[in-house]
Amino acid sequence: MQIPDSLKTKAEEIIFRYPEEHRVSALVPVLFEAQRQLGWIDNDVEKWAAEFTGASSTKVREVTTFYSMLRRQPVGKYLIQFCQNISCSLTGGLELQQHVQQKLGIGPGETTEDGLFTLKYVECLGGCSWAPMMLVNENQYFQLTIEKLDRILDGFKSGNPVPPDEPTPLLGNIAGES
Ligand code: FES
Repeated sequence: MQIPDSLKTKAEEIIFRYPEEHRVSALVPVLFEAQRQLGWIDNDVEKWAAEFTGASSTKVREVTTFYSMLRRQPVGKYLIQFCQNISCSLTGGLELQQHVQQKLGIGPGETTEDGLFTLKYVECLGGCSWAPMMLVNENQYFQLTIEKLDRILDGFKSGNPVPPDEPTPLLGNIAGES
């Protein structure tokens, strides 16, 4: 994959924040920017990131295969990441997973024929209090129901995305309140 000038420029901005002797510390943000611009990280991008940051090729591969937020394969325009951990599973997540598979006609790790959606199951996304939840690209959606899920997917499909949810203060009996 060709490294575009826009990526080189942005990478220079990122690495400028790090001391010269710690260029390697910029590896994750540089890779993340590469993915943001190119969609995924192939061998050429890994090689460029290693040369640019001074990391070894082994180090770069360790990073790209460890973090689930970094992708080594192309994905659809919208990457759906469903939490499959305990809080989400206990609040209807399993039903939602079945529904999304049926609705899109794909299984985990697959992409729809039109290249629009890729489905992935991941571990806790850090929004357990608002379970069940999912990410679509970098947008988070909480307290999902089948109706809400349909609205979100239909919104992306029609080019009118449903705005992402913001975490809200939890309701309930706070210590000291009656
Ligand atoms: S268990 Fe689903 S966000 Fe934590």
